[in-house]
Amino acid sequence: MRPLDRRHLIGLETLPVSEIRALLDGARDHAAWLEGGAVKGDSLRARLVLLGFFESSTRTRVSFEAAAKRLSADTITLGSAGSSLDKGESLLDTAWTLESIGADCLIVRHPRSGAPADLARRLSRMALVNGGDGSREHPTQALLDLFTMVRHGLEPEGLRVAVIGDVTHSRVARSNLYALTALGATVAVCGPATMIPAGLEQLARRPGRVEVVERLDDALAGAAAVIVLRLQRERQEQGLLPSLSEYARLYQITPERLAHASPGALVLHPGPMNRGVEIDSRVADGPRSVIREQVTAGMAVRCAVLERACGVGAWADGGPRREAALQEAGR
Ligand code: NCD
Repeated sequence: MRPLDRRHLIGLETLPVSEIRALLDGARDHAAWLEGGAVKGDSLRARLVLLGFFESSTRTRVSFEAAAKRLSADTITLGSAGSSLDKGESLLDTAWTLESIGADCLIVRHPRSGAPADLARRLSRMALVNGGDGSREHPTQALLDLFTMVRHGLEPEGLRVAVIGDVTHSRVARSNLYALTALGATVAVCGPATMIPAGLEQLARRPGRVEVVERLDDALAGAAAVIVLRLQRERQEQGLLPSLSEYARLYQITPERLAHASPGALVLHPGPMNRGVEIDSRVADGPRSVIREQVTAGMAVRCAVLERACGVGAWADGGPRREAALQEAGR
């Protein structure tokens, strides 16, 4: 079986490009049968997938669980309320317990940046998949964003993508920056100065680039896709945010603003949306919005991620993805 460290999915900061591509290929195969009306696959039969969601989530949790079930895995979901974390047990002890129960894979969402990476280092059998950690990474969200773009004919190489809003708190922004630049895109980032961390340009992976742009219209100029970030009201420290109406006035993506992007530019949003704050409903529900398609894409991407985590399907020994990724990595 594929070694454990190559079945975890912690983030896209260092994930080899061959693995990113293999996951997108896997997602394409899954999309074909999911959309073709087939009810179930069985690549995860007899596998136990645990979902540890220690922070609120609707779409990520439901779509991981639905993807696992569509592939015939057994699933158990636990949150901080009602688990032994309530009694002060450490996350690591909880994870060891789940590993001892025989879980094949644990998906973790956690408010602390770095929690999934710390856990993964201490596990010996169970694969760990990051479902979003603090403001660090949300790899499956970025993969499904990429998948949605590619399905609309936007190949990342040479592409200009605008990422707008609260980047400081956004794990979605970080994972997207890593993945898009690794595949050769230029990412133009724009938001209030207090919400754009210093040195963001250095996050770019080669051969892509990150540009921090002051004016929204300049950031949108020539963008083939616009990723609108949720204003993370629950993570605002005092003083970062002028006021919601001020934010909306300066940064809300409206049809008029969108006219600065490339003709036919796609609009993405990870959800949940604050309508009337970062996005105008006419854009969210308009012809360029692919927001609901992103959710559908999430199923296909998570099917691929789960198969990779469990080392089955196209990721089984001798399977096409494993061989291709190994070859490209020069092993
Ligand atoms: C995002 C998250 O929780 O990181 N939502 C999601 O997973 N679809 C984005 C957000 O909360 O802003």
